[in-house]
Amino acid sequence: MVHAPSWRVLAASLFLAAAAGSAAADQRPQAAPASVATRGPGHAAIASANFLATNAGLEVLGKGGNAFDAAIAVASTLAVVEQQSSGLGGGFMAMLHVAKENRDIFIDARETAPKAVDMKVYVGKDGKPDREVSTKGPLSAGIPGEPAGLAWIAQHYGKLPLAQSLAPAIRVATDGYQPDERFIGTIAENQKTLSRYPSSAAILLPGGSVPAKGWTLKQPDLAKTLRLIADKGAAGFYKGETAKRLVDASRKEGGNWTQADLDAYQVKEREPLRIDYKGYRIVTAPPPSSGGVAIAEVLNILAGYDLAKLDAAHATHLTIEAMRRAFRDHNEYLGDPDFVKMPLDMLLSRYYADGLRATISPDKATPSDLLPTAMAPEPGMHTTHFSVIDKDGNMVASTLTVNLEFGSGFVAAGTGVFLNDEMDDFALVPGQPNAFGLRGAEANKPEPGKRMLSSMSPSFVFGADRTAVIGSPGGSTIITQVLEGILAFIDGKDASGITAQKRYHHQYLPDRVDVEDGVFDAATTKALTDMGHVLRQRSPWGFMNVVTWDHRTNTLDAASDPRRPSGLGKVQ
Ligand code: DON
Repeated sequence: MVHAPSWRVLAASLFLAAAAGSAAADQRPQAAPASVATRGPGHAAIASANFLATNAGLEVLGKGGNAFDAAIAVASTLAVVEQQSSGLGGGFMAMLHVAKENRDIFIDARETAPKAVDMKVYVGKDGKPDREVSTKGPLSAGIPGEPAGLAWIAQHYGKLPLAQSLAPAIRVATDGYQPDERFIGTIAENQKTLSRYPSSAAILLPGGSVPAKGWTLKQPDLAKTLRLIADKGAAGFYKGETAKRLVDASRKEGGNWTQADLDAYQVKEREPLRIDYKGYRIVTAPPPSSGGVAIAEVLNILAGYDLAKLDAAHATHLTIEAMRRAFRDHNEYLGDPDFVKMPLDMLLSRYYADGLRATISPDKATPSDLLPTAMAPEPGMHTTHFSVIDKDGNMVASTLTVNLEFGSGFVAAGTGVFLNDEMDDFALVPGQPNAFGLRGAEANKPEPGKRMLSSMSPSFVFGADRTAVIGSPGGSTIITQVLEGILAFIDGKDASGITAQKRYHHQYLPDRVDVEDGVFDAATTKALTDMGHVLRQRSPWGFMNVVTWDHRTNTLDAASDPRRPSGLGKVQ
């Protein structure tokens, strides 16, 4: 972080300079954002990463539930059929839109650090984060938020009892289902970790080996845990039998959770961030997600350009430069708002964006402050996002995670629940990258009860005639996927067009642009390279699940990422 102070001084002075010249041309007011239609579409749509989960949501809508009940059904079914991505042992963030009140709420069911958290245990002999500790086994797990979050949504926003919304998940866990090749593939990839814990192997490695296609996975312990939540609400998980199993099993395996940690877990409702861009209002995730702040910074920078007048290479160059600067601030300033004071007024201000824009050369890449010491790994297919619009216009965008595939890989025996490995999302060693190549500092250091910073960016985009519900998994790439999705929607694409669109990504460090095959034509690739950008092709990333609503024709479009065959977007 040797150059960090100079950047901060530079950014701050540019901020002041821009603020002083507040009549700058770029300060023209944006068109007033359209108010969202309070009348519903009359039919519903859901897009999720798994057809069983989408169908569970539709089933609950058919029983008279609203989008919020459907979200509980989708999330809990994903916790049964996509344990590699999300689950009761993890957390989530969700944007809710309550149509009749025209109100948006951010639900923060993110995990928290246990009270006994000790930064030292995550540092290896080489002074870098020890990934064995930070991503595997109970010490890598934060206190889960998903069960409390689902119970909270049922209690405050649902129409149906929690038990009814959990019923499809309980049924699938009890009766079993046949996992697809993608799921079996993730078992194979994680076989070594899973076989370390007999309780995990008993579920996913029948007879000690990777199951063959056609295998039926029944999860009676998980069904029992879900039933306890259905009967007792959050207490079915955080107290009594399940809680005791979670605490005892994790401590026996070297963990540090206590019953007091589970007792202390609280869901937080937070004000979403609102960004106005080209007549659209984007309502998105506030800290402890970094996504909304980063998206706001990028859009505020881009608002000063007329991208449509530029060729693809120059428009992309400016967007990459905006990403670079937003991720720089991400690393420096952001963390849990209950623990750190963040200069959000500055980061979200148009004047600040003017200052940042002034540092961008129109045709030359700015080298990032630091040279990378580690390459970010390929983002995998873990973490999940779903989108819902119901017939009344209620909406849910939710991203759910256990962090890496199967989280810590550790199941507390008797619960069927894989614990997350979200502790790796903290800045465990200042300046050193996490599993997604993200570096952090003081603001995101682990502290008892603190939420680790997230990239999850569930978002709504409201326009005069069109609305989008959008999000994706993909670690740090979540932010740029959602950003590019928002820009595509504003350019007129619907859910199918947004999910199919090719992607690129820059996160400040490592200083390179990740590109999906085919995202740029040869001329754009050459022009970007000539401007000094280092392009690196990587295998496709993300798993967007998007619903769009065109108010003019009253049509819904639900689409699941075409890169991933098991997803399902469905209009009812
Ligand atoms: O909260 C976060 O930002 C990460 N734990 C999300 C991890 C993720 O998206 C993995 N997906 N590919």
